[in-house]
Amino acid sequence: MLWFHPVLMALATLLAVYAAYLGVERFLSRHLGLRTQFLWKRHTVFGSAAIALWLIGFFGGLLMARLAWGVNFVTGDHYETALSMMPIMAAGGLSGIYMDRRKAPRTVLPLLHGACNLLLLALALYQISTGWDVIREFVL
Ligand code: HEM
Ligand code: HEM
Repeated sequence: MLWFHPVLMALATLLAVYAAYLGVERFLSRHLGLRTQFLWKRHTVFGSAAIALWLIGFFGGLLMARLAWGVNFVTGDHYETALSMMPIMAAGGLSGIYMDRRKAPRTVLPLLHGACNLLLLALALYQISTGWDVIREFVL
C-alpha cells in the first residue's frame, strides 16, 4: 500500500508535464507573438486532473504515513515541500477555473497562473527526488 502514493503522484506529475506543454503554447502565442494553437479544453482537463490528483495524493501520503508509522511530518524535505505546494495549488487551480469560466482578454492573470503552475510542476519534480529518499530510508 505504501507504493500507492508514489505511483499516483508520478502519474499526476506526468499529466502536469503535458498541461504545462499546452500552457506554454498559449504563452508563446499571447506574449511572444508566435503562431501556435492552444488546445484550451485539453489544457483545462489535464491541468485539473493533475492538480486534483496532487491534492488527493497529499492527503493520501499523510494517511499512509500515519497508518504505516503512526506519525506524520517525519520526512523532512518531502513533507516541507508538500506543505509549500498547498497555497500555490490553490492559487494556480482557482485562477485557472476562473479564467475558464469567465473568458476575457487578459495579460497579468494568465502570467501569474502560468508562473504558479510551472513552479508547482518544478516542486513536484523535486518531490520525486525527496520521495525517493523517503522510499530508501523508510520503505525499502
Ligand atoms: C499543472 C497544471 C497547469 C499548468 C502547468 C498550467 C500552465 C499554464 C500556462 C503556462 C499558461 C499560459 C499563461 C500565459 O499565457 O501567460 C496557462 C494558461 C491557461 N490555463 Fe493553465 N495550467 C495548469 C492548470 C490549469 C487549470 C486546472 C485550468 C482550469 C481549470 C487552467 C486554465 C487555463 C486557461 C483558461 C489559460 C488561458 C488563459 C488566457 O490566456 O486567458 N490551467 N496555463
Ligand atoms: C512522484 C513523487 C513522489 C514520491 C516518490 C513520493 C513518495 C512518498 C513516500 C514513499 C511517502 C511515505 C508514505 C507512502 O509511501 O504512502 C510519502 C509521503 C508523503 N508525501 Fe509523497 N511522494 C511523491 C510526491 C509527492 C507530492 C507531489 C506531494 C505533495 C503534493 C507529496 C506529499 C506527501 C506527504 C504530505 C506525505 C506524508 C509525509 C509525512 O507525514 O511526513 N508527495 N511520499
